[in-house]
Amino acid sequence: MSTQPVIEMCMSARVIVTCGTGGVGKTSVAAALGYEIAQQGKRAIVITIDPARRLADAIGLGEGTGNEIQRVPLDTTGELWVTMLDVQETFDSLVRDTSPTPERAKEVMDNSFYRSLSRSLSGTRDYMAAERLYDLCEDSRFDVIIVDTPPSRNALDFLESPERLARFLKHPIVKFLVAPSRGGFRLVNAAMQPVFKAISTVVGGDTLTGTAAFLRAFDGMEEEFSRRALVVAKTLRSASSSFVIVTAPSPDALTEADHFVSELSRLGITLRLIVANRMPPHFGTSTAAEEHSLAKSQSGDLARVHELIAGLHDHADRADSDIQAFIQRTSTAFPAVSIAFATELATDIHDMDSIGALAQQLAAPPAQQ
Ligand SMILES: Nc1ncnc2c1ncn2[C@@H]1O[C@H](COP(=O)(O)OP(=O)(O)O)[C@@H](O)[C@H]1O
Ligand SMILES: [Mg+2]
Repeated sequence: MSTQPVIEMCMSARVIVTCGTGGVGKTSVAAALGYEIAQQGKRAIVITIDPARRLADAIGLGEGTGNEIQRVPLDTTGELWVTMLDVQETFDSLVRDTSPTPERAKEVMDNSFYRSLSRSLSGTRDYMAAERLYDLCEDSRFDVIIVDTPPSRNALDFLESPERLARFLKHPIVKFLVAPSRGGFRLVNAAMQPVFKAISTVVGGDTLTGTAAFLRAFDGMEEEFSRRALVVAKTLRSASSSFVIVTAPSPDALTEADHFVSELSRLGITLRLIVANRMPPHFGTSTAAEEHSLAKSQSGDLARVHELIAGLHDHADRADSDIQAFIQRTSTAFPAVSIAFATELATDIHDMDSIGALAQQLAAPPAQQ
């Protein structure tokens, strides 16, 4: 069996989640992992958030709309599929799936509170990311689901959203509200106002009556809703899910990577892999010190060339030591974490060849990285 950590993860994980700050190459790495899985003969789907335009074109999402699932043409026995997250479409299909009748589904979907809930709230995006993940986990067409998280500090909020939602839907106040009322509209009761206020803080809504009407229409659907949410929460915390932090060697990226490490610790989730991406390449056999001293002993253009090479060495050495310091800090929290390196390629990641080149670096034996 291979001991290469990336291949091992690709062969054993059911769900892979990539996190990291914007610009470090998270989406490129998610695509490269999917590519590697396809190379290994398995079927992967990457659910990606806002891929850079050219990357979207490269993986076939350039024309994609909504939740549409697209297959990337590859010359492999395995398969690579890609999709994006459409919050509205996901919420609508969840409502259709869980409502007892089509009429009830329509009632919920026509509700103004539902419309604003499904359109505008960032919390809803988290719930729907989790719901979409549930859906893809149920889909027998895929062996591995790779989740590319959005480029924000709160990217891991979706991990908590299933439990938050399930807790909310089970709350006695919600149960009370959706119960058929005997004495007309409960909302007229002034004593209930603080309760509604609390609820609208949780759901994030601004119209209390809309909230209540929504919850009523929603009645009975919450059981399936929270069941799914809890299945996802359990999957994400199980050994079949692997979390990956992607970082570049810049100070900003590493500060954000530290933040993700502490978020994962707080959530009780094990970090499986660090990808140190966009590393400046090393070249030649000389050291920075040798080049500096050659620069001093020469003059004119030759001195400038050695100065330049010394500068590139310094840059690569600094990147190495910053990454090593990060790995050391992270190993304290996650002693079993693996590391994979990828250098800054000569070109953007903009086609399947560059995704393949990135995958090849990630899956190289540790000695070659
Ligand atoms: N190893 C690499 N070599 C060269 N360019 C890279 C590499 N990794 C990422 N990039 C480039 O960096 C930019 C950001 O990559 P992307 O995957 O969209 O990052 P993120 O999803 O973290 O914002 C893109 O232009 C991509 O082509
Ligand atoms: Mg991205």
